[in-house]
Amino acid sequence: MKAWLDGRVLESPNVPAVGVLDHGLIVGDGVFETVAVDHGEPFALTRHLERIVRSAEGLGIGTPDVDLLRHGVAATIDGQELGFGRVRITVTSGAGPLGSPRGGGPLTHVVVTEPCDRPPAVSSIITVPWPRNERGALAGLKTTSYAENAKMVEVAKAADASEAVMPNTVGDLCEGTGSNIMYVLDGQLVTPTLASGCLAGITRALALEWLSQELDVVERDAPIEVLREADEVVLVGTTRNIQAIGRVDDRTLAAPGPVTSAAQEIWARRQAEHSDP
Ligand SMILES: Cc1ncc(COP(=O)(O)O)c(C=O)c1O
Repeated sequence: MKAWLDGRVLESPNVPAVGVLDHGLIVGDGVFETVAVDHGEPFALTRHLERIVRSAEGLGIGTPDVDLLRHGVAATIDGQELGFGRVRITVTSGAGPLGSPRGGGPLTHVVVTEPCDRPPAVSSIITVPWPRNERGALAGLKTTSYAENAKMVEVAKAADASEAVMPNTVGDLCEGTGSNIMYVLDGQLVTPTLASGCLAGITRALALEWLSQELDVVERDAPIEVLREADEVVLVGTTRNIQAIGRVDDRTLAAPGPVTSAAQEIWARRQAEHSDP
């Protein structure tokens, strides 16, 4: 693991580095990205940097220094054996007071890169009752205020699942804590619309673009109970790519099903063509 903060590589990721008054620590006032790295090459880095700028501006903390972040990404990948890994980019609103108002100081830019296991081909999910607020102030932004996601993942792990999938405030299927969701009904691959409150996932966007050239793919909202009748269920996200789901709550599904297999084949083929699509 290698860490970088505001322009310099840290001696170790465990040395104290960010101030105790950083508003990211105090109230989760920041934004982040997780980028996959394969054989030392970050995937879709430009899209991730564009999204972190959108998230930061949407949160109102200003504009991250994208060139600085690119240096941080390169500096933390450099010198590491990264067959597969992930880069975590975090930008916070910087030092602030102990309450919610901001300090107005410079943003804190952090990059940490570590090797990790490739995602398993098949996984399990649970559905949880806690809604994503599609009308909230943070809707659609990838902020560091992820404590509710941390709680939901712990609940999923306790149920032997790797992800918790939630509804939105009107009970429609929304997303997982760190992934978007797709499912197959009558041979058609369906994913919730962005109006559901889900994050505009980069894997989701690329999957819609790439898969729709060869498969029947639509964006459509439906009650979360649709997962009880779906023929196949798939999670899509940076750390999962296109992952088949073999169990939803107590229901077992054959995984990967035929549409999922086709989607995985298309994804692998298209991903191999571009490292920064
Ligand atoms: C809440 C949420 N939804 C969806 C995703 C999937 O997005 P991406 O494909 O860009 O990784 C993430 C990923 O981090 C996420 O945090």
